[in-house]
Amino acid sequence: MKIAPYMERMILDGGLLRQRPGDDAARFVSHVNEYRDEPLTLCERFFVWQNGRLDVEEIDTPIRSLPKDLEGFRVALVSDIHLSARMQRGEETLRGAASAKPDLICMLGDFADGHTKTAEPYKPFLRAMAGIAPCVAVMGNNDYVCSYLGALREYYAQAGIPLLEDESRTMQRGAARIRVIGLQDANAFAYNIPVRRDGTMSNVSTIAASDDPAMIDILLIHRPHRAARTLAQGGFAMAMAGHAHGGQWRLPGGQGLFSPGQGLFPKYTSGLYQVGGGMLLVGRGIGNHEFPIRINNRPHLPVAVLGRE
Ligand SMILES: [Fe+2]
Repeated sequence: MKIAPYMERMILDGGLLRQRPGDDAARFVSHVNEYRDEPLTLCERFFVWQNGRLDVEEIDTPIRSLPKDLEGFRVALVSDIHLSARMQRGEETLRGAASAKPDLICMLGDFADGHTKTAEPYKPFLRAMAGIAPCVAVMGNNDYVCSYLGALREYYAQAGIPLLEDESRTMQRGAARIRVIGLQDANAFAYNIPVRRDGTMSNVSTIAASDDPAMIDILLIHRPHRAARTLAQGGFAMAMAGHAHGGQWRLPGGQGLFSPGQGLFPKYTSGLYQVGGGMLLVGRGIGNHEFPIRINNRPHLPVAVLGRE
């Protein structure tokens, strides 16, 4: 079967062979060599394309009371890379992010992958991302339980990327300001991982929307259903999330099949949603995890282009 090397790569990347360490890379190379010169059928080409070709999607995003100086501001959403040691996803992500010409890159977490036992691959990747545009980041559920959490945090710091764990950063553009508020993932609570400098857990309820007309708030929350809940409480202009992987498989018409936390036929999987008075942008993510193969669900790097409502 000519498609075998691609299936193999996706399954290896996806985590199904987690219990069989050792010769993953060698077996992949041997499969590629075996099938490399055979032409793929149209159907196989489509399968490879829609699993591996990054969709850099520009999305016009209307924001209520947007300060004039923020019109056209471009925010790229990068999430769920589940970066493996082979780095193919990292290289394509860097190319896609650069092509988006963002003013700000928001990293929505789950960059970690269970196959990678060391944080080393993240070091050059994070540095390269920081060279494209100003970056801010939150962690996802997988990041908080990976075995190299400390090193990962260190590499974010070395790259100059603020890791927002119930913290915010404000950036200026002309007379306007954007405040990005990153909330820690629920796994930090579930595994009792302290994130505050004083060693305590956070108190999200103290975060309130700004009433400064020259400033907008963007919430970064890894899980979209949680982001929607926070937006529905009102006040915030925008939130961004990942985690749902587009619902893994997407039915004709765009309905996702399954998302952890939202279950079957999840509501928030891809693109822009109006929730309360704010906008929720959800990226389908770039990599795979437990569900190794995407159907009708290309890896996704959305770019919000802010405009006045
Ligand atoms: Fe996740």
